[in-house]
Amino acid sequence: MLDAYRLPQEEMTDADFKKISGLVYDLCGINLNEGKKELVKARLGKRMRSGQFQSFRDYYQYVVQDQTGQELIHLLDSISTNFTSFFREQKHFDYLQSDLLPALIARKKGKGNKIILWSAGCSSGEEPYSIAITLSEALPSPENWPFKIVATDLSSKVLKIAASGIYPHERIRTISPALTKKYFLKGENSWQGYVKVKEPLKKYIDFKRLNLMEPFSFPEPFDCIFCRNVMIYFDKKVQTSLVNRFYDSLSKGGVLLIGHSESLTGIQHRLRYVRPAIYQKEK
Ligand SMILES: C[S@@+](CC[C@H](N)C(=O)[O-])C[C@H]1O[C@@H](n2cnc3c(N)ncnc32)[C@H](O)[C@@H]1O
Repeated sequence: MLDAYRLPQEEMTDADFKKISGLVYDLCGINLNEGKKELVKARLGKRMRSGQFQSFRDYYQYVVQDQTGQELIHLLDSISTNFTSFFREQKHFDYLQSDLLPALIARKKGKGNKIILWSAGCSSGEEPYSIAITLSEALPSPENWPFKIVATDLSSKVLKIAASGIYPHERIRTISPALTKKYFLKGENSWQGYVKVKEPLKKYIDFKRLNLMEPFSFPEPFDCIFCRNVMIYFDKKVQTSLVNRFYDSLSKGGVLLIGHSESLTGIQHRLRYVRPAIYQKEK
């Protein structure tokens, strides 16, 4: 009898939403305002339909009590927006090729010439692979100019795709036939319709899970940090802290690239504005 008065299994109350969005904010800085309730409900729908939970309240309890942390990873995987593409925001890759790399080459010549970049919030890998292609093409003799790309994301789901380097063929349709041939293998038989990044390109990239909300430190400072279309989900407080931690992780003259729809307006920082979505640490 009581069951008739129970909430339908997938009803999300305001209190449920507050708890779940509070947890997501505290753990990964993503700011889910009231307007995102339906989105969160839809994203967690599959998990709820597994039949394991009676309500979103049950689900929340399970997440916070799960000692393995797996359900939390699952929750964050479902919430984060992973849209990306190869050579997204082409202007940044033009800047890398025509401005930053020539400057780095001039600055580093004869002084230990390794170039180190970070793709922070790399999603399924299109961004770091686009960086690796740009560097391989632009460096005068890549064998004499070692470079490394650290590529990190919160979501273990997208990192798996990134590390595999396997994509549906249509994802690379904007890449020229010459570059496609040089850097991708065409899938055959059951892999028809897919491409795979060739091993020599993959070896430039280290993929790892990293939550930008947690403290980070790296053995060497970065010449360039790509953090594009990630901070858009964070509020000003989290953005300010992150931009200042990026500053500390940059080499002198190092550059921070943010998404073109993002801005550092209203954030206290020490970077110099170069042009839209490009900021530089003093030399
Ligand atoms: C929209 S994608 C952007 C991908 C790529 N940078 C681009 O511009 O195409 C945003 C990525 O940020 C990641 N992300 C969100 N919050 C994060 C956090 N706290 N730490 C690390 N990555 C996070 C998401 O998992 C997602 O893959």
